[in-house]
Amino acid sequence: MIAEQINTVNTIPNIDAAGHVTGRSIYVDDIPVMHGTLVAKIIDSKLGHGIIKKIDYSKAEMLEGIVRIFSAKDIPGQNEIGGIIADEPLLAEYKVLFQGQPILLIVAETEDAAEEAIKNIIIEIEPLPVVIDPREAFRQGQLLCKSRTFQKGNIATAFTTCKYIFEGTAETGGQEHLYLETQGAYAYPVEGDSLRLFSSTQGLRHVQETVAHVLGIGMNKIEVDVTRLGGGFGGKEDQAAMWACMASLAAWTLKRPVKCIPHRMEDMRMTGKRNPYKSDYKIGLDENYKIIAYEATYYQNGGASADLSPAILERTLFHGTNSYDIPNVQLTAHSCKTNLPPNTAFRGFGGPQGMFVIEAAIDHAAKEAGVETTLIQRANLMVNGTEFPYGQIVADSEAKHCWDEVVQLHNLDNIKQQIETFNKENLLIKKGFSLMPVCFGISFTNTMMNQARALVHVYWDGTVSVSTGAVEMGQGINTKMLQVTAKTFGISTKKIKLETTNTTRVANTSPSAASATSDLNGKALLNACNQIMERLKEVVRTIFNEAEESIVNIIDEQVFINGVQKDLSWNEVVKQAFFKRVNLSAKGHYATPVINFDKTIEKGHPFAYHVYGTAITVVTVDCVRGTYEIDAVHAVHDFGTTINRNIDLGQIEGGLVQGIGWMTMEEVVYNGAGKLLSNALSTYKIPDIYSVPKEVNIHFLKTEGSDLAIFKSKAVGEPPLMYGIGAFFAIRNAILAFNPAAIIPYTAPITPEKVLMALYSKRS
Ligand code: MTE
Ligand code: HPA
Ligand code: MOS
Repeated sequence: MIAEQINTVNTIPNIDAAGHVTGRSIYVDDIPVMHGTLVAKIIDSKLGHGIIKKIDYSKAEMLEGIVRIFSAKDIPGQNEIGGIIADEPLLAEYKVLFQGQPILLIVAETEDAAEEAIKNIIIEIEPLPVVIDPREAFRQGQLLCKSRTFQKGNIATAFTTCKYIFEGTAETGGQEHLYLETQGAYAYPVEGDSLRLFSSTQGLRHVQETVAHVLGIGMNKIEVDVTRLGGGFGGKEDQAAMWACMASLAAWTLKRPVKCIPHRMEDMRMTGKRNPYKSDYKIGLDENYKIIAYEATYYQNGGASADLSPAILERTLFHGTNSYDIPNVQLTAHSCKTNLPPNTAFRGFGGPQGMFVIEAAIDHAAKEAGVETTLIQRANLMVNGTEFPYGQIVADSEAKHCWDEVVQLHNLDNIKQQIETFNKENLLIKKGFSLMPVCFGISFTNTMMNQARALVHVYWDGTVSVSTGAVEMGQGINTKMLQVTAKTFGISTKKIKLETTNTTRVANTSPSAASATSDLNGKALLNACNQIMERLKEVVRTIFNEAEESIVNIIDEQVFINGVQKDLSWNEVVKQAFFKRVNLSAKGHYATPVINFDKTIEKGHPFAYHVYGTAITVVTVDCVRGTYEIDAVHAVHDFGTTINRNIDLGQIEGGLVQGIGWMTMEEVVYNGAGKLLSNALSTYKIPDIYSVPKEVNIHFLKTEGSDLAIFKSKAVGEPPLMYGIGAFFAIRNAILAFNPAAIIPYTAPITPEKVLMALYSKRS
């Protein structure tokens, strides 16, 4: 059944690979340093909540090598950096709301001088009570934004008809982005009271507008340039702005180049992470295990200010029912304000948090009703015509196709049989498995953000320069943009240069996020290339005296008219066009059609399309030690018609492993005072080569894809992360094979400590 889709140019290697492995790729800290560059260091709050009583840096400012110390009063524009809601000061002035909150900025000739000065700064803060739990914050009425409810059918009446009803709670933890390149920015003053700013950001516009806002000047005075990121994973969608503002504030005021790049531990302490969630669920089923009603309430831990949490909250609601068709649904989400660093975007953007809850609810129902979880999952998968709780009608469902294909291809019955036999033969090692279906909506949930632009220059020697709003962060977007250009012009990729992402070439960018970067920027680029191509075709027709209807193509840099090759190359056409004074540059624009959403009724058609897939996870638990291994993950994934097979496979593997990390071992721990305890790589465990699945099989679902995806190659960045949720349930099942009476709360991550406790727990 499964055939791999091959697009015409779908196998080119990632153009960044050689640079990465030879250390030639440029990150912010690799940019050649200009003479007179200063370093900026942030002094952050050591208390989780309190009133600032005294700040004295008079002694520190006198020290050798210290150029200037900035406090809130030195900000020329607005002391405010919130992206969605204006609730976040750049530098704390009266109050601190979390440990790690910036209070002062030291600008020094050297790092050492700055470190010395820190010892001579006095900050007195009168402590206030610290709240780090979202449910507690909710009880105290501490919310970051308006709560939201998505509703479909009528749960109240539906629950009265259910044969089975189960209620419970589910929790997911935070997650540190751990991009290899930390946050950072390098700003230098240029003529005309302007700044050129190199920033490690996914969101150039947000950095540009926030810096302009803080400095009290127009966006046109700030040029932001990004070569690439050493990873973003959502952590640099909005939170890059703070570091950029710090470097810019100093560079602007002092008229000197300034770098602001934190150490790893500073980055970990000061930045927000994936939003942890605590949730309640209630699920009702009929005698055939059809889910009749589902109710969930999500308490999102937003941290001290809104950041992107309101948008993340929204996506939790959008994905609250995952791949399931449920007639009566009510989902309510609260964004709770706590004394933690503002939490932020992280691959999946609230979707995984919502999906975990429904998977927990279904698993709970299955275990109580005495049937297999997979039976309830399969019985409720959505089909075309299903209405999502937000009103969009499913038109492209691959949910059952993916499920059935992976079950058939990997012979689930056989897997189950093998696990059963293994568990019978082994007393102290047990295996478990799970299935995890995924349905992820593609488009920014804020319709306005679904737009992009590209700028293409064809130089008269036939080489091409491409600028888009897309940021390369390891996901391979530049390679995909190269392919779009090469394919549209019919030329070799060697002729094309991908430029840095720069606000003077492509303005008002949406962040490279929501997995939509290649669709949005690819389509804008296609538009730009097509404009130039049409002009070149006209030139060809003129040269050969051909009628308007004749079909001109360029294939492998050779001109064809009505399928017949002509003695004319790409280079020659371009040269002729230039001689004829034809415009060889174009600006492309794209805005996703069809999509809309009305927040007043919480209904609409917010997504261009959905991405589907199902993963089988098999694990082995050591029941003496509580440790576990992921034996295998087999997935059937809906790539549409992949534009680049290897890059897309890399995204699936990386996303999967990141999801497994979130579910099983990555534990963000704060103490009651709001101090981050997992503040280094010695205390925060991410997946390594030993913890990745021993076997990963990814199959390409045989499907065409969506016209709203670039060349029908569906978005791939975030959806695979959610396959990792399967690891939680597989481990849970292995524990139950050892101890059927074990108490195993739906609380992730399920670390070895928790596994050990669960193995020897007993229901009373
Ligand atoms: N892959 C790598 N290597 N590095 C990253 O930072 N970010 C992920 C995903 N894959 C990321 C990544 C996230 S959070 C998103 S939204 C998408 O890539 C963004 O890129 P795309 O829109 O091109 O898929
Ligand atoms: N996804 C990712 N990032 C975003 C979104 C979204 O839907 N909205 C705003 N930023
Ligand atoms: Mo991704 S969380 O949308 O940057």
